[in-house]
Parts: sequence; structure tokens; C-alpha cells
Amino acid sequence: MTRRRNATAAHDASLGTILLGWYDRHARLLPWRAAPGLRQDPYRVWLSEIMLQQTTVATVGPYFLRFLSRWPDITALAAAPREELLRAWAGLGYYARARNLHACAQIVVATHGGRFPDTEEALRALPGIGPYTAAAIAAIAFDRRSAAIDGNVERVIARLAAIETPLPQAKHEIRAVVERVMPATRPGDFAQAMMDLGAGICTPRAPACARCPWQPACRGAVMGDPERFPVKPIKRKRPTRQGVAFVLVNARDEIWLTRRPERGLLAGMVQIPTTNWTTDGPQPAEIAICRPRGRGWRRLAGPIRHVFTHFELDLQVEIARATRPPLGEGQWWPLARLAEAGLPSVFLKAVSAAVLRGERPHGR
Ligand code: ADE
Repeated sequence: MTRRRNATAAHDASLGTILLGWYDRHARLLPWRAAPGLRQDPYRVWLSEIMLQQTTVATVGPYFLRFLSRWPDITALAAAPREELLRAWAGLGYYARARNLHACAQIVVATHGGRFPDTEEALRALPGIGPYTAAAIAAIAFDRRSAAIDGNVERVIARLAAIETPLPQAKHEIRAVVERVMPATRPGDFAQAMMDLGAGICTPRAPACARCPWQPACRGAVMGDPERFPVKPIKRKRPTRQGVAFVLVNARDEIWLTRRPERGLLAGMVQIPTTNWTTDGPQPAEIAICRPRGRGWRRLAGPIRHVFTHFELDLQVEIARATRPPLGEGQWWPLARLAEAGLPSVFLKAVSAAVLRGERPHGR
């Protein structure tokens, strides 16, 4: 056992170098990337990392190029009207990211003289920059030895070291291995090489081990079943939450839409008015407060069910005709163009249930 551990440790120092060699030959050409070995523009790195947070490389490409030609540097982006930036973001989803992008640009211009801070810690203090993004920017833009660990990297490392601990408990072990294999030079290229390895070779299913530069050292591959890693946690049953949502339609067949809070689930996205979603379900007083004013509120026969990552939702849906303008912020949106409103699927389901079940409100 000791011999084996030593053998692996001896390997560790060279794994980073091997990966960099592979990256020099196989790096993906991506619009935000400088050639391997070259220092990158922090603005481009930051912009791409924010866009890539919940969106695929293929989708981000054209948006990144459009943003860059329209707002070539952080000063230009900070000066852009927020509504214009949000419109340019349309289609990328998760609009809280766009609002944070703007806020971050303004802070960097106002308090950092237009230059991004170059440490992980200072980057994390900026809006929209969490631990992963801070590490990725620090490594790629500033060549800091920061470990940018996302789900792809976790998979690569869990296989490399055949980590038997399930996620998320394995996170510390994974970080320790990343820090051991990280080379002394070019940490930015190392971070991007890990991303490429996870995206193109060490894929969740059917990894291309024969083309992997780490294959000879990979314990998961040696064991013959790399897909077993990362070991999945034992699934606990998701709790069920309950809520009530409100479909309010006016005489022009427009629906009343509001915006979700900037923090929490589906942050900043469009919604129909709803109560909170809790395991106990909303109390009558909360339902009454959240229900917009309208005539003849009726509840659909049964709830719609939607599965989120951490819970299942039974959402009761009520529908009514608007008689007076609703109170509070929101907008009327034509039902015929609902697909373009950017409504998360749980709300689309609720509206479809109300409208398609032929339960349009009476009382024109
Ligand atoms: N995913 C997150 N950041 C990325 C990057 N810089 N390149 C490719 N994929 C990524």
C-alpha cells in the first residue's frame, strides 16, 4: 500500500506537465481564449466565465462575440444602459447574471480604476463571482495557482484517483488531488486543460480513455470502470413543497407577469404571481396577500407537479379575469406569445394547465 501511494505521488508532479503538453497540441479554439502560454485579457476572461456559468460553450460563443464588439472593454460595459445589456443577454437565461455583470463592471470602474483585482479573494467580493468563477479568473487571467473545480473537474479527478468517497463529501479529497497535480507554471492553461479534458475526453458517459493523456496514471481506468466515479451519493427522497400560483388574464388575453427576487431559486426570472413554496404549504393569509386582485378566482382541480433538483413541488393553480390593473410591479404579456416571455418551465406548466384545460376565466 505504501509502495503504491509513493508511486502515485511520484507520478503527481509530472501529471500537470503531461496535461500541459496535451493542451498545447489539443486545446479547443474558443473565442475567449488566447493561445496556450499567452496571458489573457481579464475582461474577456471574466465576461466568458460569467456567460459560461449556466450555459454551454456552443451557446455562449456568439453572445460573447456580440458583447465584445459592442462593449470592447469594461469601461464601455459599465457605461451601457442596463436595459440594453439585458436585451443583449436575452436568450442566455438566468438574468441575475446580466444584472450582476453590469453591477460588477460599474464597481470595477468606480473602485478599482477599471482593472480587475488579481486575487481569488478580491474577485469573490464582486457581484456574480462565486468561488469557482473567482478561481477560474484568478488562474486564467492572472496565472494564480487557484484551483477552479466544477463538476467536470470533480469527475476527472475522482476517476484519476479512484476516489471512493461519494460527492459532496469527496470535495476536500478532490481539491487535495488537484493541488497536488497542478504544475508549478501555467496554472491558467492547466485550468483550461482540465476543462477540455472533462468536456471532450473524460465525459460523463463513455469516456475516451484511449485518447486521454492521463490514461496510464488513471486508477479509475485501471480498475476497468471509470464511469463508476465520481461515486454517487445515496439518493434521498426529495421533499415535497406546496404553493399556490395565480394566472390573471385581462380582456385582451394578456397574462400578468412579475419578476422573481434577485436571490434564491430561479433568481431574477419572470414568473406568474405565487406564494412561497414550503413543505407546510402556504397559510390562507399568505395566499390572500399574494393573490392579485381579479374577479372570480377559481382553483384548478388538482395541482401541477414539478421536479426541481432538491425538492418536488405541488403547485395549485388559480385563474381569474382581471377587472382593474393589478397592484405592484409587473407587466401584461400576450398569451399567444407566451413562449417568448422567458418563463421557467414550472410556470409554463401552470399557465398551460390553466389555459389548455379549457379553464380560461369567465366574465369578459
Ligand atoms: N466552462 C467554464 N469556463 C470555461 C472556459 N473558460 N472554457 C471552456 N469551458 C468553460
